[in-house]
Amino acid sequence: MPKLVFERTTKVKTTLAIAWSNVGDHTHFKWAHHKHFSDFLVLYEHGIFQAVYYSSKIIYPLPFKKRYVAIRELNGEKFTLRQIYQDIGSGKRTYLRAHLEQHGEDVHIINRMVFDTSPVTAIFAPFIAKLWNRRLHAMWLEDREILEVRSQNGWYTNDACLPLDDSLYQEFGEKFDSLLSKNSQYSFTTR
Ligand SMILES: [Fe+2]
Repeated sequence: MPKLVFERTTKVKTTLAIAWSNVGDHTHFKWAHHKHFSDFLVLYEHGIFQAVYYSSKIIYPLPFKKRYVAIRELNGEKFTLRQIYQDIGSGKRTYLRAHLEQHGEDVHIINRMVFDTSPVTAIFAPFIAKLWNRRLHAMWLEDREILEVRSQNGWYTNDACLPLDDSLYQEFGEKFDSLLSKNSQYSFTTR
């Protein structure tokens, strides 16, 4: 299968700790990046790995969505995110590596993405690259308020912007038995 490869470096005036905190904080995706994500759900977490589901808006405000499952590795020692997405509809995969480096007052976020593609889609590579460029630029602008607040208040050690109430993994661990209990108000049995 042919591959498209894109690289982009974003420069953000902040510290490595704050930028990394932002990369690892998925709890802000649905509200700060509501133009890009319509759903984001952690399915499972183990150490620095997460299995996630998400629904992505392709070109806001048009109603086109793609749904993915992904494995993410958040390596805080190397300031590197590695992620493999699988498009649930087409089965195509996308590979992302985001590496953060401090350069003076700026953090450089160096993204490299590899897309499974088709020979026909490859013709539109320059257009797809423009869309990705615009998308990543917009998302870092949407992050500006979070970055500034964390910088002013030193809250960057707190990774979560919202309580982790959207995790399927957490629901399995904490709520499953009570949700399936026979004491449920409308419970009935079939034979
Ligand atoms: Fe963000």
